[in-house]
Amino acid sequence: MVALTTGTGGTTAEDAGREDGAPPPDDEALAFALQVWQYKQGELVSLLIHLGDRLGLYRAMRGRGPMTPADLAAATGLQERWVAEWLRGQGAAHLVTICGGDRFELSEAGAAVLADEESSLLFAAGAFGPQTDETFVDDLAEAFRTGIGLPYDRQGPSGAHRTERMLGPWARIALVPRILPALDGVAAKLAAAATVADVGCGAGVALTAMASAFPASVFHGYDISRHAIDRATEKVTQAGLDNVTLHLSGADALPTEATFDLVVTFDCLHDMTAPQSAIAAIRRAIREDGTWLVKEIRCAPDLEGNLANPMAALMYGLSVTGCMSSALSEPGGAGLGTLGLHPELLRALADAAGFSRFTMHDFDDPANLYYEIRP
Ligand SMILES: C[S@@+](CC[C@H](N)C(=O)[O-])C[C@H]1O[C@@H](n2cnc3c(N)ncnc32)[C@H](O)[C@@H]1O
Repeated sequence: MVALTTGTGGTTAEDAGREDGAPPPDDEALAFALQVWQYKQGELVSLLIHLGDRLGLYRAMRGRGPMTPADLAAATGLQERWVAEWLRGQGAAHLVTICGGDRFELSEAGAAVLADEESSLLFAAGAFGPQTDETFVDDLAEAFRTGIGLPYDRQGPSGAHRTERMLGPWARIALVPRILPALDGVAAKLAAAATVADVGCGAGVALTAMASAFPASVFHGYDISRHAIDRATEKVTQAGLDNVTLHLSGADALPTEATFDLVVTFDCLHDMTAPQSAIAAIRRAIREDGTWLVKEIRCAPDLEGNLANPMAALMYGLSVTGCMSSALSEPGGAGLGTLGLHPELLRALADAAGFSRFTMHDFDDPANLYYEIRP
């Protein structure tokens, strides 16, 4: 830090260089250091976003116009000095507008991304959790040595909850009204009486949305994560649904006879150690006139293609800490990772398992593409 200090009375970069005998940093090195420190800034802004979400600060600012720290402290029951420092940090990070007179405002766009969990497809604050547990990082470092990654459950119950909140908006808001009706004949079958499997169902957001909308159909959720299935059980019970059965098991536990009218796999094939076996199990379990709906991350077959994604570095971070790690959590795991299942590969895997019809849908989900695949 000292080497970056400039201005009168401070230690300059040149002084620091002379003191320790190192040459003064050039502009390129200074710019690089700034870039690196900006990632540290991102880590701490992320933590403040989590606190804002957890403490209801964004929700209390929604639609309220400019607020002083005292206003926000009164609205949330929190301590004014802490709220004031949080607001200044949020202003510095351009997440709230600094209005002058020690007042701060959450814009409409800010509310859509940081406060409106139930109604906004752009809601993102739920993805920001507490900083990673140190023993998890120890295990991750060890995975670099052994090659064997960590299953989702190693992230604990909060990992399943964070995934639920990160991926929830599209399943809750867009799946039933927008995505299912775009598939050939699927919504009509669901309205009549269909048998459905959600493989890798996570915390059950999609299952709950579909089972509530289509009470005449029956739904089965499969996941190998105990924490995810516990959370899904809680949600299904809370919603009072009696047409959902949850299974703490993977695709290998699917019935071997053709049973399902619809199978969905959302954001999970690339997390699996053996996606090709899961796809073969889905092919066996699906009816001849059934549909397999896949949601997978938008990605390309090569790094250059993936770099077009402005969030590529985030995606590779999610991969090392979650997706690729899960997909390598058994010896011989496929290890596809977050950006590993591109359209050409999915098509080849589906063909190899005996599916013959393959349609890609783009619903303007910035992170994902959807595929309607049929026997
Ligand atoms: C990123 S989460 C997605 C969860 C959910 N589909 C959603 O969209 O919220 C990936 C899920 O895949 C599950 N998973 C990984 N391997 C699996 C397997 N072989 N069979 C079933 N689920 C698996 C993980 O436990 C995790 O819950």
